[in-house]
Amino acid sequence: MFSNLEALSTALNNMAMIKLIHINDIDNDDMMQITVNNQNYLVAKINDRLYVTEDMCTHEDAELTMGCLSGTKVKCPLHGSYFDLTSGAALNEPAEDPIKIYKTSIKNNFLYIDE
Ligand code: FES
Repeated sequence: MFSNLEALSTALNNMAMIKLIHINDIDNDDMMQITVNNQNYLVAKINDRLYVTEDMCTHEDAELTMGCLSGTKVKCPLHGSYFDLTSGAALNEPAEDPIKIYKTSIKNNFLYIDE
């Protein structure tokens, strides 16, 4: 029993939280690219809710923040596939694979993700 708790505690301590932005650094119905440790993230705010995904299309090399938002969907600038920011799902071809989405949390008005 104790060893399970110890293992859980170790796992939680090893979970990396990455600080992205202050929650007021982005307007509603807008998205931005944030780079941390050479990793590009798409951060979007829709109806005061923040979403974070990887900022790369799964079809070819195109940064999704160069596309446009439509509600909780983002359109790839290169061939027009839409991705659902809530699930990461590719909604139409040519992209088929989902983008990675991140679990978010807010502490002291800063947005964090679990890596
Ligand atoms: S690169 Fe995004 S749909 Fe082709």
